[in-house]
Amino acid sequence: MVHGPKRPGVPALEARGLTKHFPVHRGLRGRAVVHAAEDISLALPEATVTAVVGESGSGKSTLSRLLTRLITPTSGELLLDGEPVGTSARERRAYTSQVHLVLQDPFSSLNGVHGVRYHLERPLKLHRGARGEQLDALAKELLERVSLTPADRYLDKFPHELSGGQRQRVAIARGLAVRPRVLLADEPVSMLDVSIRLGVLNLLDELRERERLAILYVTHDIASARYLADTVVVMYAGQVVESGPAQQITDSPAHPYTRLLLSAAPDPHRSGPVVLRGRGAPPSLIDPPGGCRFHPRCPFAMPVCAEAAPPTLPAGPDQVAACWLLSPDRTAEAAEAAAVAGADGATSHPGA
Ligand SMILES: Nc1ncnc2c1ncn2[C@@H]1O[C@H](COP(=O)(O)OP(=O)(O)OP(=O)(O)O)[C@@H](O)[C@H]1O
Ligand SMILES: [Mg+2]
Repeated sequence: MVHGPKRPGVPALEARGLTKHFPVHRGLRGRAVVHAAEDISLALPEATVTAVVGESGSGKSTLSRLLTRLITPTSGELLLDGEPVGTSARERRAYTSQVHLVLQDPFSSLNGVHGVRYHLERPLKLHRGARGEQLDALAKELLERVSLTPADRYLDKFPHELSGGQRQRVAIARGLAVRPRVLLADEPVSMLDVSIRLGVLNLLDELRERERLAILYVTHDIASARYLADTVVVMYAGQVVESGPAQQITDSPAHPYTRLLLSAAPDPHRSGPVVLRGRGAPPSLIDPPGGCRFHPRCPFAMPVCAEAAPPTLPAGPDQVAACWLLSPDRTAEAAEAAAVAGADGATSHPGA
């Protein structure tokens, strides 16, 4: 293994202040930047699943691509096992074998002209130097690890001969071939039939425990995040607005945006009323709103929300949210905003 023994208490992968601004052309209006990810810090400890949830365009895929180093951050840093990640070709190769990305679409991530055997044996040869009979045995072992058994039945099949779920399992097996510490799964089940989604989510859960993988699960479905994840990170318009233990966040969301997400996708296991009615749409990331980016949509918005970006404040044990409503200096203002929002149709405010 390239990176020595794992250090207790040190996350397998950590991002500090990751920011990505994409330069874009706006025709006659000249150049601009898309603020796709802004000052994102998160830790992925081994043997845990961290879910990143948010609407389309909130920056989830940008974050996962930054974590794979497929794109270079505008600023911020990555630490693998507590060590800053270097930029030499050798260090890049080492990083790629430690941090693996599983894509949304198992159709396009596997090459239709090659069989399962090719997809599994190639990384085994390149990264682990396996040859001959050992290759065959390792490829079968990989299929067993993703519950494609008996392995012989799948090894010589082509992608088009497999179901979507089986293809996604092959894609995950291929990722495991390089013995990663971190698996980044960007909407891994959203293109699969509903009936096979649970099987793939359960596989990720098994891998978390059995292989002690640090898993990032990117999804727009907060109910599946609650099902699978230990920790939930909520993104809105390129920023993290709330994070904390999965069950706690879904039972007691502190940020009005988290409440909006939960009300849009009610979890049958969650008790209590739907709290917020949605209004408006996410902002442009070229000219994001000043202050809190959510304030134009927030029924609890106070004057300060349009003026200054909210600090990240404690919202419960290990739970934090970037929201002025949680500020101890603004309880009177927040109560007033809640009363107005209540009259407007929202039933309670995050501090309630
Ligand atoms: N290469 C790029 N150049 C310019 N803008 C980009 C680029 N990649 C992403 N963006 C923009 O960054 C923002 C975040 O996109 P991203 O793909 O990260 O969102 P997402 O949360 O993954 O959305 P979805 O749920 O639809 O997959 C969007 O406004 C998108 O248009
Ligand atoms: Mg995406």
